[in-house]
Amino acid sequence: MKFFRTFAQVCLPLGLCMAQPAGADAPGTVHPALWPQYRYPVTTDAATEARIADLLRRMTLEEKIGQMVQGDICCTTPDDVRQYHLGAVLNGGNSGPGGDDKALAPEWLKLADAYWAASTDRLHGSVGIPVIWGTDAVHGHSNIIGATLFPHNIALGATRDPALIERIGAATAEEIRATGIDWTFAPTVTVPQDYRWGRAYEGYSSDPALVSRFVGAMLRGLQGPANGHDLIAQGKVIASTKHFIGDGATTDGIDQGNAAISEAALRDIHGAPYGPAIKGGVATIMASFSSWQGRKMTGNAGLLTGVLKDRMQFGGLVVSDWNAHGQVEGCTNASCAQAVLAGIDMVMAPDSWKDMVTSLIAQTRAGVIPMPRIDEAVTRILRVKARLGLFDAGAPSTRPLAGQWGLLGSPAHRELAREAVRKSLVMLKNTGVLPLRATTRLLVAGDGADDISRAAGGWTISWQGTGLTKADFPGATSLWQGLKQAVEAGGGHAELAPDGHFTQRPDAAVVVFGERPYAEFQGDLKSLQLTPELTAPWETMRRLHAQHIPVVAVMLTGRPLFVNPALNAADAFVVAWLPGSEGAGLADVLVGDGKGRPRYALTGKLPTAWPRTARADDGALFPFGYGLTWHDHARGWTNLSEDAGVAAAGDARRWFANGQPSSGWSLRVEAADGSASTRVTAVPADALGGRVHISARDFAVQEGARRFTVTGGAATIALMPPAPLNIARETNGDVLLLLTLRVAQAPLHASIGATHADVPVALTEADRWVRYGLPLKCLAAHGADMTSLNEAFRLSIDGPGDITIGEVRLGNDAEQMLPCPNP
Ligand code: BGC
Ligand code: BGC
Repeated sequence: MKFFRTFAQVCLPLGLCMAQPAGADAPGTVHPALWPQYRYPVTTDAATEARIADLLRRMTLEEKIGQMVQGDICCTTPDDVRQYHLGAVLNGGNSGPGGDDKALAPEWLKLADAYWAASTDRLHGSVGIPVIWGTDAVHGHSNIIGATLFPHNIALGATRDPALIERIGAATAEEIRATGIDWTFAPTVTVPQDYRWGRAYEGYSSDPALVSRFVGAMLRGLQGPANGHDLIAQGKVIASTKHFIGDGATTDGIDQGNAAISEAALRDIHGAPYGPAIKGGVATIMASFSSWQGRKMTGNAGLLTGVLKDRMQFGGLVVSDWNAHGQVEGCTNASCAQAVLAGIDMVMAPDSWKDMVTSLIAQTRAGVIPMPRIDEAVTRILRVKARLGLFDAGAPSTRPLAGQWGLLGSPAHRELAREAVRKSLVMLKNTGVLPLRATTRLLVAGDGADDISRAAGGWTISWQGTGLTKADFPGATSLWQGLKQAVEAGGGHAELAPDGHFTQRPDAAVVVFGERPYAEFQGDLKSLQLTPELTAPWETMRRLHAQHIPVVAVMLTGRPLFVNPALNAADAFVVAWLPGSEGAGLADVLVGDGKGRPRYALTGKLPTAWPRTARADDGALFPFGYGLTWHDHARGWTNLSEDAGVAAAGDARRWFANGQPSSGWSLRVEAADGSASTRVTAVPADALGGRVHISARDFAVQEGARRFTVTGGAATIALMPPAPLNIARETNGDVLLLLTLRVAQAPLHASIGATHADVPVALTEADRWVRYGLPLKCLAAHGADMTSLNEAFRLSIDGPGDITIGEVRLGNDAEQMLPCPNP
């Protein structure tokens, strides 16, 4: 009861509860009675319950709160785990043992042992509950060098094969166990409705029924039977269905955004997979970063407690997402009683865990959080730990499968991944060139053909899946390597030429193109299209086609995009999604026998509709479920419209944000005389012979800014649009060029400009973020043609400087105006 009184106190001062007309609900209010009821199958025997009750009786408040907090290994030592009794640790996408993302598998196991030893240390009178470690093993044990990388979920959706999904789950569990980790933040059971979302590929499908068919299978693979116990002894791990709820429903596909949908849509579309998740005995559920009807999920008691725990009878633990509590109204990363009151049992506080522990203790002592809520949370956590068999399991390295390094990327697991690749391929066009004859002389082209990082996508070794080379994928096979093996085995010949310039005329060409790796918001798009530089292989296709060489287009992508020009240019078109480490699965299907007869069936079907234009609301070119088979081959083709339906990729007014230029734009570092020019892509990087160092820095979001350390001399940082910009209207309307900068060391001279215009500015070093405004009129006065800018922003520096760019956009809300000197 205290719990509800606290809520009324929170909402009354805001007027949210009172201001509603009779009969209408405040936004974000849910009606649990309208939701389905399930039965959570996991039972605990009397002895286990007695053991948990006994622990609970003996635990101090500090120990209880510690159980409820999860720190990231970046920022949590084994000693911290001992001292603060932390219940869990995790490795976020960019964390690895000793601060090394690429640390080899034995280091992970060693660290797991160290955390375990610290957590079970009872020297200071604590009850010593063993810690659990969570990881994003979202397509195989994907943070670990040498692990099998299965295709991302959207590709698995194309297979329509739940039995395959179960085997993948089981293989992934074994690889996780080898490293002594207990918990994967998977499967993502999102039901994306807008594929501009940068996480759409983490979901199996936009169809709730298809997603729902996979959930139970993946859970059986990872965790074992719905009411399984002693998971550790069975070589299993605990799973986490995420992100509850409506993560795939946000307006315009904006990551961590707001789902402005009805309760019925939330329940029937986005809630559907939670039925099989709960019936399948999922041990943990992760709350979503996103909002529903304007209220952050992490603080929504109606959904987390009313629906998930009470109505759906979910009996496992609810974990929050990465500092997501800090986004709840009235909260910070350091303090958020609201999240726990809403029903979060374990707070993921990667770098904020210590403050979180302190504030939760204080809030409980002060009665803001009632003790029964704490006891409920801890009981849920201990039940999950008991189910794992953790209390009696011993150190991670002593458990079944631990240290069996041969499991990581084992031949059997790789074979399974290869099968998944074969089954996930979706053929959208075939005028008869496929399957290829094994005796063929094959050209393999395109920038993605020999790039395993491109095939693996985000959530691979690093968070974004960037900064990797072939050496980071021991034992993996690129698409090119697979094609070469298949053709050579059949008596043919293969040549790799990324730009398509062959040395010997081929009989046919495979051209691989598509997206580059991304994760979360960094992958959000304004429209469903590739940035212009990623479409360069289309030119190669056209050139080869003009030379009467049959072209097979292969697309690496996390989502369906407008690619009509490529569909027209190629003779066959196959979507390979993000296939992972076993590229040979592509060749299995594309390359037939010596007579060109198929060796494998082609069965993949679209897990979501393919768009007609780059506009997300323009309807389907190919419907959900589309996919040609060998029986359909040799079809005619009527050329498609090549009109993308939108001007260009990107938001016209926000040119640089989240550490990246707007889609299609490029950020460059240039020598003052134009003699050298480097495009800024992956960071850290160097330009101008090392005179300029570019690195990532946080702004608004993690790694959301780019820092330029200039050691001396002149340098220019320029932002180029994909096509000349016309902002004459904005110039007339007194709009400003807004630059959010952080100047740690001011250059001797600086000027801000656009094409043919340079406005001298004085940048002072304050080492804090300042949003400077420069009137577009000022650029015009200094000679820029505002109807046709090839360069939208230029910062010229002379002398040493240290400047970080957080954002470049148009707008009117400057914090500090830059004076406009007379030309
Ligand atoms: C993501 C989760 C992930 C967590 C831990 C968050 O940013 O949203 O899906 O499990 O980080 O890496
Ligand atoms: C972590 C990810 C996490 C993300 C959230 C990254 O630094 O490595 O795991 O999902 O931050 O913003």
